[in-house]
Amino acid sequence: MGAPYAEVIGDPIAHSKSPLIHRFWLQKLGIDADYRAVQVHPDMLHEYLVSRRGDLGWRGCNVTAPHKQTVAPFMARLSREATRAGAVNTVVRGEAGTRSGFNTDVLAITEILRAAWPPTFPDQVAPYVQVIGAGGAAWAAVIGALDTGHGADFDFFNRTPEKALAMAQRLSLPPSFAGGLDGIGPIRKDDDRPEHQRYSHIVINASSMGMLGNDDVPIDLSRYYPDTVVVDMAYNPGGTGLIAQARRHGLLAFDGLDVLVRQAAEAFKLFFRTEPPREHDSELRELLTR
Ligand code: ATR
Repeated sequence: MGAPYAEVIGDPIAHSKSPLIHRFWLQKLGIDADYRAVQVHPDMLHEYLVSRRGDLGWRGCNVTAPHKQTVAPFMARLSREATRAGAVNTVVRGEAGTRSGFNTDVLAITEILRAAWPPTFPDQVAPYVQVIGAGGAAWAAVIGALDTGHGADFDFFNRTPEKALAMAQRLSLPPSFAGGLDGIGPIRKDDDRPEHQRYSHIVINASSMGMLGNDDVPIDLSRYYPDTVVVDMAYNPGGTGLIAQARRHGLLAFDGLDVLVRQAAEAFKLFFRTEPPREHDSELRELLTR
């Protein structure tokens, strides 16, 4: 058996930052293992998995577009998060080549929102989460927020309002609102209940807005509560407008790299059965933004 290794698969894949992150941690820990990017065409997904089945060095792979949903049927078992999200972003090789599917995107959102808890006002009724986008990332965000265990109310906003509505219905919780991007606004009103009884507010961008070449999320954070937490799942080397705005208003903000590094950390633990050295996060961030 050669040195252990993991991979990230997708189509396209050249843009993936996962090899840089995992190799950085492997090198810091002095582990003799590798992490590679492999382009896998949608028609070749099963063939790829079969080709790795007997390879004892293969610890598993991260999965990105367009395979996150289609890879699930090839798993012998799915984690609770992967089942609920209907998507797999991490495949782990078990004994005798059996494959288990996990969703560390969900785990990353849960971890981020737990880190942002408790909010400033201890008597708040519940987190109130505005989700922007209605694709796979949005669904992972919803499951991740529910898994914090604090309960949550949701609003959904999407370029195609019908998809936001469909998402709200699929969640089968009574959402306050589902609609287009022009509806994005604060829940704060002049006749709000006393501060200590109000909602806490979380905004999650799970759309492609803010990524290179796309418009920024049409939101005015100056009107939001000062303890609003902003999570941007979109990444842009120059920073997104949403994160810039959040920082300008002094809001607690987690950007696309925070989400990326946290989902990678959960996958790293599954592949290499050890904690990644997160004390080097600032050096890693610097590498990732170069
Ligand atoms: P992912 O799996 O990463 O969530 P996706 O399923 O393709 O990817 O979802 C992308 C999301 O970003 C969708 O909500 C999409 O809106 P539509 O449902 O209307 O397609 C949203 N999106 C993509 N490009 C956008 C743009 N330029 N402006 C606004 N929303 C955009």
